[in-house]
Amino acid sequence: MNSEKKILVVDDEQRNVRLLKALLVPMGYAVQTALSGPEAIGIIETLRPDLVLLDIMMPEMDGFAVCRRLKGNESTRTIPVIMVTALHGKEDRLKAMEAGADDFLSKPVDATELSIRVKSLLRIKTYQDDLQASYGEIAEKNERLASLHQMKEQLMHMIVHDLSNPLANITWGLELLAAGRDELPGAFGGLVDGLVCSCRDVNDMVQNILDVYKMDEEKLKPLKKAGSLDGLIAEVVSLFDVKARERKIAIQWEEGSGVPTVPLDAVLIKRVMANLLNNAIRYTPTGEEVTIAVAHMPDQGEVCVRVRDSGKGLEPEYHEKIFDKFEQVHLRMSAGRSGGHGLGLAFCRMAVEAHEGRIWLESHGDGRGCTFCFTLPLVESEASTEAAMEAPLAR
Ligand SMILES: Nc1ncnc2c1ncn2[C@@H]1O[C@H](COP(=O)(O)OP(=O)(O)OP(=O)(O)O)[C@@H](O)[C@H]1O
Ligand SMILES: [Mg+2]
Repeated sequence: MNSEKKILVVDDEQRNVRLLKALLVPMGYAVQTALSGPEAIGIIETLRPDLVLLDIMMPEMDGFAVCRRLKGNESTRTIPVIMVTALHGKEDRLKAMEAGADDFLSKPVDATELSIRVKSLLRIKTYQDDLQASYGEIAEKNERLASLHQMKEQLMHMIVHDLSNPLANITWGLELLAAGRDELPGAFGGLVDGLVCSCRDVNDMVQNILDVYKMDEEKLKPLKKAGSLDGLIAEVVSLFDVKARERKIAIQWEEGSGVPTVPLDAVLIKRVMANLLNNAIRYTPTGEEVTIAVAHMPDQGEVCVRVRDSGKGLEPEYHEKIFDKFEQVHLRMSAGRSGGHGLGLAFCRMAVEAHEGRIWLESHGDGRGCTFCFTLPLVESEASTEAAMEAPLAR
């Protein structure tokens, strides 16, 4: 049944309009008419026809001009237009095509030909309308999903944030117990040490998640002060003492000779070191070693820190992906990968790049370990000093 399909017939001659109407109405179409181009333009916006049969030769505004107007307007662009013409010249057909016409009919109009053309264009229009409706639905769902995602992110942020205080209390209590381990019975000393390590791991994860959020929202700016990498690394290494001993992993640390102080945010860079060292210990087999080296590279205007392990290494295809928090989801889903939550290196990259440094992985091939390297500039760039002065801090 075609009754819901509306066709607008545009022709300056009453006789032609009546003829087309007489053919279309019995086919089940709702027919409206216009006797000039401007009248047609006026009707179309409100009528929203499913198809337009358009005469070419009309005074005032010809069919080409009407067609161009319809096809140039976003809201009427998809309405199919059939040019009805007594003209047979190729040039006119070309001109009609250029104006955006979808098909042609020659006068005098043949009923069968009219029926075929109209049906086929209306079918295409129905597909287009369905497609458009689906786009609309998808866009709406997308918007809803985006807002749900944002709510979920905010909720997760709140939960993670609220975990940090009780966690700090537990860690503090356990550290007190560990300090008095001599008074603890039997194996409890070792147990408490293990619990302190686990708490620190969870705390690191919480901090990574919170900082990645902040950096994403550009709320975390490094608070840089001249600092010594040696002192900072010594502190981090001592935090991993128990863990390394448990795994019988020796941490070799070659203190950088003559490495000057560099502008750094000690809290952030300590956590970069902690993440790299944690990974190195995690992925190094028991009994092997992890090496840390700091190098002063005055020619490049930077210092370079290297954390080398003797684990299984990492295939080159992952060398970039592991620094990307979105890629981590895929990596974690791929078979045989184990580890933490996959945000550690994403955090490291954000933190190092916020210092205008670089971070990368050198892997020495299958079974020959990984070396994670990062650089920090020896002096702050002018741009970064200005940015720090404009936005003094948000941590
Ligand atoms: N030293 C390493 N040797 C081999 N693979 C590594 C090493 N360090 C990181 N990776 C790989 O890179 C991935 C990403 O490391 P990242 O530190 O970001 O996450 P994670 O350690 O899995 O979890 P998180 O640090 O959040 O607890 C790891 O899951 C692991 O597959
Ligand atoms: Mg990690």
